[in-house]
Amino acid sequence: MRFLHPNHPLKTIWDVLVIVATVIACVESPLRITLNYPMTDGLLRYDLLVSLMFVADVMINFVAPLQEGKKLITDPRMIAGRYLRGWFVIDLLSALPFDLLLGGMAGGTANRMLRLLRLTRLLRLVRLAQFMRKISRRSAVAPGVLRMAYLVFWILMAAHFTACIWLYLGAGNSAGTSGNYAMDDSVRNYVRALYWVTTTLTTIGYGDIAPVTNVQTVFTMFVQLMGAGMYGFVIGNIANLIANLDVAKAQHREKMEKIATFMKYKSIPADTQNKVEDYYGYLWETRRGYNEFQIVEDFPRPLRAEVLMFLNREMIQKVPIFEGASLDFLTEIVLSLKPVVYPPGSYVFKKGSVGRNMYFISRGTIEVVSEDGETVFATLTGGNFFGEIALLLDQPRTASIRSADYSDLYTIDKETFERVLKNYPEVESQIQEFARKRQEEMKKESAKRGSTPS
Ligand code: CMP
Repeated sequence: MRFLHPNHPLKTIWDVLVIVATVIACVESPLRITLNYPMTDGLLRYDLLVSLMFVADVMINFVAPLQEGKKLITDPRMIAGRYLRGWFVIDLLSALPFDLLLGGMAGGTANRMLRLLRLTRLLRLVRLAQFMRKISRRSAVAPGVLRMAYLVFWILMAAHFTACIWLYLGAGNSAGTSGNYAMDDSVRNYVRALYWVTTTLTTIGYGDIAPVTNVQTVFTMFVQLMGAGMYGFVIGNIANLIANLDVAKAQHREKMEKIATFMKYKSIPADTQNKVEDYYGYLWETRRGYNEFQIVEDFPRPLRAEVLMFLNREMIQKVPIFEGASLDFLTEIVLSLKPVVYPPGSYVFKKGSVGRNMYFISRGTIEVVSEDGETVFATLTGGNFFGEIALLLDQPRTASIRSADYSDLYTIDKETFERVLKNYPEVESQIQEFARKRQEEMKKESAKRGSTPS
């Protein structure tokens, strides 16, 4: 029964349907208790449907595999055992169709206390937190946005429940709590109750709707106290959520402002200022201001390797010498690479300099050029590498390297490169082959240039 697995689309659809039914039931049950509208056939059918859904959910939960951390529990006895010790009682109570069981209740003749049994449906709301955790792990929506939606949902639910209790206590109820049923009155009473809740919870308290009985007055005081506490909590939370909605963007903006102020203070030429701004613009465009190297720095080695392998998967696929290389080799390489960015027109190194690094191109265009930068010998793009000749053949750089536009490169230093290659001679011979071919080409090229004076 693969469709019962926690990540199967059908199981997810079912979970969403149950949650939607839960929310509808939690909004409707308290309304039915307070307004006590008559049970029509349609309502009874709806009630039966919700109960059937909840009963089906109880049965599914007895057999559906459970995800615990990375482990998937598939043993039926373990699944059933965990469910019985966990959510079973809550799920079962909320599944009972009290309106059908206590048939006499329909039509408003039921005892007011008995009507409260319908509230068992509300127990299911506790399940919502669990569902939200599952959603936030899988959804593409920013966690801040989800948390905000969750907070707003609970505020609305709290307001709804408080309004229902207010009506249940008989306050502001022009039609009375039982009998004299009229839809218009009910809607009007509910809207006014919500209005009372809003003015009280937000501590505005116009006082145009006031408690009459002792119970109502005590309840009002309770809501007022709750309102004062909740108001601060909610406003604080919302301010915090908004500030954290896009942490990366806020940090980027702050950094840019700092840099701009510094450059103005130091009277750095406008042209250079533009280049710096342009560079940070590129960093924002390509990596949202995150520095992957810094982020994974504190990760334990195996986790760092896993994340870096994922982040560099495209480049690894494109580099020919990595094709068919063992996972161990790729892991070692990926852990040793450091990302660097070169702006358009900048030189990575000049011909004749001592080579200490080799480079892999992730993105961008790199030109292999003569010392004066006039002649372009080759143009390299994503998946290519350069700088191997000086490293492997222990000689000065055979050409200058210039970035034609913004280039994202990964660099590995000579010592690490040699240490890694020592364990993988087949990769070393491949790179040496590249180095020899390129050196030949360069020799031919310079011979040609030498014989044709410019
Ligand atoms: P290195 O000599 O260390 O520094 C310059 C680099 O340019 C060189 O290593 C090669 O990686 C690269 N290079 C040189 N010639 C060519 C070529 N003809 N085609 C591609 N890349 C080259």
